[in-house]
Amino acid sequence: MNQDSNLNDITIRNGNPLDFEKIIKVQPLWWNGRDLTSLILKIFFIHFRDTIFIAEKGGEIVGFLIGFFSQYFSNEAYIHFIGIHPHFRKKGLGLSLYKKFFNLCNLNNRTVIHAATSPINKDSIKFHVRLGFIIEPGDGEIDGIPVTLNYYKINNPKVIFKKHLKT
Ligand SMILES: CC(C)(COP(=O)(O)OP(=O)(O)OC[C@H]1O[C@@H](n2cnc3c(N)ncnc32)[C@H](O)[C@@H]1OP(=O)(O)O)[C@@H](O)C(=O)NCCC(=O)NCCS
Repeated sequence: MNQDSNLNDITIRNGNPLDFEKIIKVQPLWWNGRDLTSLILKIFFIHFRDTIFIAEKGGEIVGFLIGFFSQYFSNEAYIHFIGIHPHFRKKGLGLSLYKKFFNLCNLNNRTVIHAATSPINKDSIKFHVRLGFIIEPGDGEIDGIPVTLNYYKINNPKVIFKKHLKT
């Protein structure tokens, strides 16, 4: 990326199907080589576009949040992925994307937010705790942190976060 890494001129918009391939391309790079692309499906960009937020600068994606509203729990929402380009981290962009999602949740009476991350992803754990998420009890423990052992898949432990929005 050949541009300033300040947050000037960043725009945030909703997602659309054209974002899918762009996000698949950057995901492993932004996660230090961890390929999680099997967890990112094109159908999200078709059916969840109102709850997907894309941060762009100069026409390039510098951050994304993939979320959705629970079908079953009418007051809950879920953040499936958040990713910020490495050059744009620790500047408040992740928080900005979360705030966009929280605002939308508040408008739709979605007051309970869940998210999940891998136990090895200490940066994500610190980020979520800093944003006021609590770690849910699980059925296992890794590095002293409660995890749910079979989450997206069998033997795929995740740290589960929960936050109650103030209404
Ligand atoms: C986790 C991630 C989204 C954070 O985005 P970010 O834009 O750097 O976060 P922000 O700058 O908005 O930080 C918000 C708060 O969290 C804190 N924070 C962010 N990353 C942190 C880290 N690695 N360690 C400690 N605190 C951290 C910030 O200091 C800030 O708190 P402050 O206001 O008290 O300073 C980003 O590091 C990332 O994309 N990582 C790779 C992808 C990933 O792991 N995604 C999460 C799992 S889906």
